[in-house]
Amino acid sequence: MLNRLDGKAAIVTGGSRGIGRAIALELARLGAQVAINYRSASQDAEKVADEIRALDTDALCLQADVSKKDQARSLVKQVIDEWGRLDILVNNAGITRDKTLRKLTDEDWEEVINTNLNSVYYTVSAAMPTMVEQQFGRIINISSFVGQAGNFGQTNYSASKGGIIAFTKSAAQELARYNVTVNAIAPGFTLTEMLAKVPDEIQQKILDKIPMRRFGKPEEIARAVVFLAADGDYITGQQINVNGGVYM
Ligand SMILES: NC(=O)c1ccc[n+]([C@@H]2O[C@H](COP(=O)([O-])OP(=O)(O)OC[C@H]3O[C@@H](n4cnc5c(N)ncnc54)[C@H](OP(=O)(O)O)[C@@H]3O)[C@@H](O)[C@H]2O)c1
Repeated sequence: MLNRLDGKAAIVTGGSRGIGRAIALELARLGAQVAINYRSASQDAEKVADEIRALDTDALCLQADVSKKDQARSLVKQVIDEWGRLDILVNNAGITRDKTLRKLTDEDWEEVINTNLNSVYYTVSAAMPTMVEQQFGRIINISSFVGQAGNFGQTNYSASKGGIIAFTKSAAQELARYNVTVNAIAPGFTLTEMLAKVPDEIQQKILDKIPMRRFGKPEEIARAVVFLAADGDYITGQQINVNGGVYM
């Protein structure tokens, strides 16, 4: 049985659907108040907030494009202003713009790096003073097995996810003395809209390479996140792979 998270305040970036939605709901099930960030899907985010309130805890829906430094930092500030604390920060928002390196544009590169990697720096730097003052913080960054293994057609995405892994280890070293842990969860292929964009025949080829012969479910990623948030007191600078064995 996991420790409860009653009285803890959490932010999940990109919490409107997919893995972020599952994380927001799992955190709420343990009693955390959860701020759901989204970029454009306001109705989806409101639905998640309603589901959270039905679990008898508090929810906020906050629009912000976390690839923009001012918006990402203001997102963190709004939560601290509203709830007076910030205990759990889950950096989940992410996008793909898949192309081979020969076809990749500067825009494809910058959009992915800004959304997936720079956003993590923006939110963590904004959350850090409060977490240090509280002497408590759980930062969980969603990377990907692609950040470890690389992937054809994903130079931009793999660079962003590899960057998250390295950032996580360095930030963990700096923040450990303040009881602020920083870890990464690296999902494998998971059943969300991101995976649905991959053509069917390629999905079949991917399945053949996964030792467990199935895609992950968002809830399976979410459970690893809440474990770190609720019971990961002595775990920092780590990356936990939840990937059906696709990368070992
Ligand atoms: N699915 C997989 O197979 C897989 C595998 C490994 C890692 N991951 C990682 O897991 C995380 C979640 O992926 P997912 O599959 O759940 O993706 P998804 O279904 O496409 O959902 C992405 C979420 O991120 C939000 N988002 C995107 N850009 C944003 C921005 N600039 N500012 C704020 N929010 C933004 C979206 O909000 P809007 O809807 O409002 O745009 C949405 O809530 C990502 O970091 C992804 O890289 C996924």
